[in-house]
Amino acid sequence: MSIRLALRESIGILSADSPPVNALSRALRQQLSQALGQVMAAPGLRAVLLTSALPKVFSAGADIKEFSETGPAASPSLLDLVAQIEASPIPFVAVLQGAALGGGLELALACHFRLATADASLGLPEITLGLIPGAGGTQRLPRLVGSAHAQHMILSGAPVKARQAHSWGLVDTVLGENAMDDALAWTQRMLDSGVQPRRVSALAPAASGEANDPPLSRPPGSPLARQAAAECVGAAGLPFQQGLAIEQQWFKRLLNDPASQALRYAFFAERPPLSHPASAARPVLHAAVVGAGTMGRGIMLCLIESGVPALWYDAHPNALCAGIDAINSHYKTLIAKGRIADDAAQARIALIRPVAEISDLRETDIVIEAVFEDMPIKQSIFQALDACMHPGAVLATNTSTLDVDQIASATGRPESVVGLHFFSPANVMRLLEVVRGSRTSPDVMATALSLARRLRKTAIISGVCDGFIGNRMWHQYLRQAALMVERGALPYQVDEAMRNWGFAMGPFQVADLAGLDVGYSIRQRQYIDAPQRPWPAWLDRVSEAGRLGLKAAAGIYSYHEGSREPQRDASIEALIAATSVDSGVVRQHVGADEIATRCVHALIVEAARILEEKIALRASDIDAVFLSGYGFPRLRGGPCYAADALGLSNVVATLQRYAAEAEPDFWRPPALLEQLALRGEPLHRYSKQQEPL
Ligand code: 3HC
Repeated sequence: MSIRLALRESIGILSADSPPVNALSRALRQQLSQALGQVMAAPGLRAVLLTSALPKVFSAGADIKEFSETGPAASPSLLDLVAQIEASPIPFVAVLQGAALGGGLELALACHFRLATADASLGLPEITLGLIPGAGGTQRLPRLVGSAHAQHMILSGAPVKARQAHSWGLVDTVLGENAMDDALAWTQRMLDSGVQPRRVSALAPAASGEANDPPLSRPPGSPLARQAAAECVGAAGLPFQQGLAIEQQWFKRLLNDPASQALRYAFFAERPPLSHPASAARPVLHAAVVGAGTMGRGIMLCLIESGVPALWYDAHPNALCAGIDAINSHYKTLIAKGRIADDAAQARIALIRPVAEISDLRETDIVIEAVFEDMPIKQSIFQALDACMHPGAVLATNTSTLDVDQIASATGRPESVVGLHFFSPANVMRLLEVVRGSRTSPDVMATALSLARRLRKTAIISGVCDGFIGNRMWHQYLRQAALMVERGALPYQVDEAMRNWGFAMGPFQVADLAGLDVGYSIRQRQYIDAPQRPWPAWLDRVSEAGRLGLKAAAGIYSYHEGSREPQRDASIEALIAATSVDSGVVRQHVGADEIATRCVHALIVEAARILEEKIALRASDIDAVFLSGYGFPRLRGGPCYAADALGLSNVVATLQRYAAEAEPDFWRPPALLEQLALRGEPLHRYSKQQEPL
């Protein structure tokens, strides 16, 4: 049973125990409803505590998977449960610890009182799924905290901590260390004082107050869901049932909104099933990082933020000192902003142990190399690691484009070598490509995936190829963008077209941010390895002019001192025009639609090849890579999901048209796309049966 009842004298304790997150699935709702009937009929019970047996989660809300089911809604609905609780003649007290989100918080709002541990976080994240709270949340929350705070919570989807919630009246008290004892004592006092159940739906909306919540720079969700949220919170001024009816209408409409369907798909795509038994993972008690540059520092931060003790080595002692200084100043900034306590920061820094020799790393369980992208340098490091590391150690490389198998071949234990491709800044970006070499052993994969989970990364398995999943597709996308510029568009027009299509940033803005020297050196290698995919010359000319991008305040754009805002640069636009002429191209107008269509189709065609080659095993993995690592618009679900939205037959026809014009090798529709289009099957559900790791 997932709902357990315990009795403490005249107080009942109902605990939900449905790992991993107490999602309010059909089964859990049925059990809860039965238990509610039981406790309400129990003679002598004077109050009920509603809580969770899971230490980190009260409830993550409705079971999102059920939203995509067809057929009649299963009874009882969450709305039924909420009404059942609120109508109870005996008081219900929600005892919240960890996350109380969405429908989970709505259950708590239906209780007559809410108590929370200090670490509890309360939120209504439905907007991030293109939805609004659909179990009375839009009506009850404003009655407790006022419409301004309610609107901010519902529109941002961001949870608030217990103390903040308490100051707004959302929580009645913040519990101490012995949460259940405190909750029982609080409830007993409440009963002794003769307080009656307080039904939130019967309250008048709380005074709105001046909310100081910061405006949202990139509001989550869809425009329709934001409109619905604002309207429903506004309707909280009406009698409760009227407001609830408006909420219900909107909720049902949003469930079928394509934007919400894409966002719900994205939620699960970014939580890919891990296809290995956790028991196969080797234990990781200590990790190590080789290299103290930008990536090495970010990876070190990831490790210590997750409490993993880590050794740090760099062949250049000065670089190591600079790395440690950078970590110290990172925490100083966080302390100054009040984001971390001094002692907590010191405890994290204390997890780092700098070492002078690579052989000092020998006892660590996993070592992550993060040095310059140069094969001979990486191979020499792996040789040295092979010579010193203990036999069970995992040897990981953070290469972003080099051949993991070639790196592994420098060791006598290629089965222990794996790619861990972090994205910059590594401590911020959630994406981690876990690259399986041709000889990487299953337990090494399992170890890498289990470490990724500890580091709270979205871990996507990739096979070995140039650029793995993400950069391989990105390079084709950027190449098309650059070809559009060669044909006649200007960089700012391409960037604008892709931002309007929904990307967080345009491709050239990203290129400047990443550093043009990085792309330049990758291209020089690709000219030899893949001469059939030519790049237009102008991009190299910009780099050769010494313009390295944002870090040099001059790249494809120029930048005012201290600003990250790209400015058009006349000299670059002249250089582009001149280079087009040199290449024999007659520049012409290229429209925004043409730019977006070509760039997006470049992603789709490369994605299909990556699936055909089994570099990625699931189309949803490719989507997760682009959503979590490349600012792909969430409302479009990812490149594969977007292909389905366009219609695969249309995609194939567009690819055929492009192939007839130029670069047939690149544009020719992959057989996978043609077959799926013929069978009427979606690309985003495509999955090769996971091979045993
Ligand atoms: N429904 C179904 N599955 C869910 C879920 C939900 N609401 N929330 C999480 N899960 C699943 C995940 O898919 C994952 O499954 P897996 O083990 O098969 O990969 C597992 O639970 C664990 O989730 P996370 O990996 O995300 O675990 P974390 O510990 O990192 O995070 C969390 C926990 C903060 C609770 C996070 O899972 C989360 O934010 N969940 C979604 C919250 C949400 O959006 N709730 C609103 C739902 S809509 C709703 O309630 C409508 C209502 O108003 C009517």
